[in-house]
Amino acid sequence: MGGLRHLVSIDDLSLADMQLLFAQAKQFSEQLAGSADTCRGMITASLFYEASTRTRLSFESAMLRLGGGVISAADMSVSSASKGESLADTVRVVSGGYADLIVLRHPSEGAAALAAQVSSVPVINAGDGAHEHPTQTLCDLYTLWIEKGKIEGLDVVLAGDLRYSRTIHSFIYALARFGANIVCVPHPGLELPDYVLQRLREEYGAEPVRADASRLGEIASSSDAAYITPKGPHQLSLFTEASGLTVDRVDALYMTRPQTERFGSGDQVAPFVQMNTKAMSAEPLKHAVVMHPLPRRDEISADLDSDPRSIYFKQASRGVPVRMALLAALLGRCELRLEGARAVQQSYRVPEGENPCTNERCISNTEKRHIQPAFRLASRIPLRANCGYCSRVLRSAFVGCSTSRHVHAADAPSARKIRPEHLVFFGDLAAALAHGFTVPRGAVVP
Ligand code: NCD
Repeated sequence: MGGLRHLVSIDDLSLADMQLLFAQAKQFSEQLAGSADTCRGMITASLFYEASTRTRLSFESAMLRLGGGVISAADMSVSSASKGESLADTVRVVSGGYADLIVLRHPSEGAAALAAQVSSVPVINAGDGAHEHPTQTLCDLYTLWIEKGKIEGLDVVLAGDLRYSRTIHSFIYALARFGANIVCVPHPGLELPDYVLQRLREEYGAEPVRADASRLGEIASSSDAAYITPKGPHQLSLFTEASGLTVDRVDALYMTRPQTERFGSGDQVAPFVQMNTKAMSAEPLKHAVVMHPLPRRDEISADLDSDPRSIYFKQASRGVPVRMALLAALLGRCELRLEGARAVQQSYRVPEGENPCTNERCISNTEKRHIQPAFRLASRIPLRANCGYCSRVLRSAFVGCSTSRHVHAADAPSARKIRPEHLVFFGDLAAALAHGFTVPRGAVVP
């Protein structure tokens, strides 16, 4: 909807936006109870279709501290969702006078993008399946900024479940944009998904390179560590050139828990390595802060809680001022003028009943009603699109032109002539033919 600012992906904020939010958050943090006029008379709605402690409570606390009100559906299983109401309808209703902003958590990837499409008030993504969790990233970056005084050039290790942790996905995009050095130390079997790597490569020029993380000790012992390096000249502050890409100095270690609630039947993984005082005695970790979005299970031992390097509870407490700043900004109640990171890309639609997105966890597949598949064009040559909801690369072998009603192989030169706003994506030729598209005379399609 024109003019409304949503936070669906961390990419909806520019670096300047984030710095403004951090400065505002710092101001709020100095007097948490001193801003009770900022959002007086306004209401946020928490729509939580998944469990939450920190995210929902810190959002609600933030709004109350700003002098606003909160309506909370903390367990949507007792809402009309259980009667079969679509997410789109729920959002239309809640945004129609019930609330001035919606905070949404949902198990399907892309749920917040759908909500933003139909909402008449700002929508904040408080976690959409394994996809993104941009406000956790704001808390994480803010914490790094407070603790280390900068983000650019920091050496950050991301460990644990990099596959299903939405906090990791939003965080890694932002770290790449801020110019931090990233080392991925995934638990075996829980490596970064391909679509995340592809986005890092294409949108941020970041290329993964094998890293020797053996000096980190046990945490990296069975991991295929990767250094996410910017293309072109880059600082090798993390590595001694003589030994190749060896990780030998770390500013922050970011742990995640196994996201077992999102594991598929093939995801049987060994127990996670536990970070404890002994594991943190590895030389490269000597000055590393220990971060975790929480909740933790056994991946961080309680014996680290009193270690001054442990800052995971600070991360959680900073959720309040950070979310105060974000709410005030999106509600237009503070001086921030958020500019956004990039122009919103157009979404491309396909005929009713067709969905080239094959991600079964995408909202475009989990919602049966009131949703049209939508796409973002990632590249013209070769022609490639990503799902407009879950961001996965679409396997669309055929594209049509909505005006000529011709269908072309996606890699054919003739497909390049279709104007972006006329592109229609099809999983296969049969789908295109079924919708009345025809192969142009003389064209050979595979
Ligand atoms: C995270 C989440 O929900 O993705 N929690 C949070 O919001 N702090 C991380 C997790 O659940 O592991």
